[in-house]
Amino acid sequence: MPNKLLLMAAGSHRLRRIVAGSPLTRGVVQRFVAGEVNDEAIAVARRIVDSGMRVTIDHLGEGTTTVEQAAAVRDAYLSLLSAMRMPGMAEVSVKLSALGSALPHNGRRHAYRLTRDICAAAAAADATVTLDMEDHTTVDLTLAVLDELRTEFPWVGVALQACLHRTPADCQRLAYAGSRVRLVKGAYAEPASVAFTRRRQIDEAFDRCLRILMQGQGYPMVATHDPRLIDSAIGLARAGGRSTTDFEVQMLYGIRANEQTRLAGEGYRVRVYLPYGQDWYAYFTRRLAEKPANLLLLARSFKPG
Ligand code: FDA
Repeated sequence: MPNKLLLMAAGSHRLRRIVAGSPLTRGVVQRFVAGEVNDEAIAVARRIVDSGMRVTIDHLGEGTTTVEQAAAVRDAYLSLLSAMRMPGMAEVSVKLSALGSALPHNGRRHAYRLTRDICAAAAAADATVTLDMEDHTTVDLTLAVLDELRTEFPWVGVALQACLHRTPADCQRLAYAGSRVRLVKGAYAEPASVAFTRRRQIDEAFDRCLRILMQGQGYPMVATHDPRLIDSAIGLARAGGRSTTDFEVQMLYGIRANEQTRLAGEGYRVRVYLPYGQDWYAYFTRRLAEKPANLLLLARSFKPG
């Protein structure tokens, strides 16, 4: 389970100022975040693609509160997609909350329209789009937007979180031909009424969902750094007669990079999730919350000499 205190820190403006203001911490942030502007993200993405892997680029930002902010996020994706020249190898990941889904007065419609613009730009760039999944209160909305987008752009994918009790049913519904589902454990602190909260339960749930997706007709995107679950995915894919191009493994930029290279070298499709943008703080603290050892990196960076 992610560390709850650190997840709370994700919302702290004071802490953000301390981390953002220190040149000493920049190296630690750069380990997980590809930069603040398009050119930096594209340069890192290009290196990853040249090394035989794929990328999904996330323009960081969530919790948009104004129409103008949402439009700015859409524009950032449009400018990224128009500059990104990696046909067939790249996609973008989007959070509907960054595109205004929580705005009053029909936020869902608003987020749909802006995401539609991003999908049209992705189609022109020979790229795809996957909708990130946020906390459990947003799942119905995200899946409704997905269904609507897929009528026009059938390659739009979505993330599902194994920790949620509802997810096996969502996997069943989305295991049809052409459907792209990214399975993750889940990065949000969820209540026990809707989610498994113990690591072992979440891992078992991940396995159950993996089985449904691998036995289905869709394209599973297995997003985890957990070696046991990656082995399990490869075993299930083989048993189900899937080739190495009928599913992919996804990992976050900066996490188990050697394993990413090893899997790609063995012929598996590997996609690296590459976040960038000025609004990196909440993403960064979630990564710290997942792995206390990362806190040591941060603490050391404050130490002079
Ligand atoms: P777990 O946390 O058990 O880690 C397994 C091992 O991986 C660890 O023992 C460690 O070795 C390594 N590791 C994991 N996290 C690390 C870290 N931060 N630093 C260093 N090592 C680390 N979540 C969500 O709710 N919605 C979403 O849309 C997405 N999207 C997404 C895309 C991709 C490509 C990935 C890989 C993950 C997500 N996630 C996500 C995040 C996901 O829900 C989960 O929080 C993280 O992947 C961590 O869980 P693991 O499956 O890696 O297992």
